[in-house]
Amino acid sequence: MLVVVLSGSGISAESGVSTFRDANGIWQRYRIEDVATPEAWHNNREGVLDFYNQRRKQLFDVAPNPGHEALVELEKTFEVQIITQNVDDLHERAGSKQVMHLHGELRKVRCERCSHKIYDWPGDLQVGDTCDLGHQLRPHIVWFGEEVPMIGPATELCRKADALIIVGTSMQVYPAAGLVHYAPAGIPVYYVDPDPAPVAIPGLRVVAEKAGTGLWKVVEELKKFKV
Ligand code: APR
Repeated sequence: MLVVVLSGSGISAESGVSTFRDANGIWQRYRIEDVATPEAWHNNREGVLDFYNQRRKQLFDVAPNPGHEALVELEKTFEVQIITQNVDDLHERAGSKQVMHLHGELRKVRCERCSHKIYDWPGDLQVGDTCDLGHQLRPHIVWFGEEVPMIGPATELCRKADALIIVGTSMQVYPAAGLVHYAPAGIPVYYVDPDPAPVAIPGLRVVAEKAGTGLWKVVEELKKFKV
């Protein structure tokens, strides 16, 4: 039985990682057009690099929370494929084995020209850090207005899901938010979020709680489906 999970920044909130659109969220403190678009990169590389350097540095100060751990527990009973909008590595650090990052990864950088050249990069990235051909390296992040390379494989996963869990996302960013509509009709669909957005899925099971507790309730309920 394949359980597909679509996670957003809310699953990392209890680890101390800011969400984007909550009060004091990242987009309350930074303008998207200043730090998360190709134009920002063209106009203000240092500002963009500093934004991601600060967020990358924070990874050393945070750890997975019970919400991440619930999804690892689920792997003991089902095949679990996580499609995350998050760029942190908390799912992996919790022990999840199959994690697809739709919007990139903070701990990786890539050549701004040869996009296949991707490097692990735990430290700060600066202007002048280049690939072997001397091209500037950039954060391995999908910026607003850029293609989402993993959307095809993510869509295929959702089509094959036997159950779907949506957790910690305001469902405002596409194409990620549209994935839920590719899940087969009639499968169990859960949405764990203390302030859930309206989602038009028949039979949606909303768990209006934080991930750290709500996901454990979903895990216990799904275990009853184990055939
Ligand atoms: N547990 C579960 N959900 C939570 C928690 C929590 N402890 N705290 C907050 N939330 C929920 C909020 O209610 C909200 O629905 O997490 C969601 C966060 O929404 P956003 O801040 O919009 O984050 P997200 O949906 O992940 O944003 C999607 O937008 O800016 C881009 O690329 C960025 O990947 C990001 C995308």
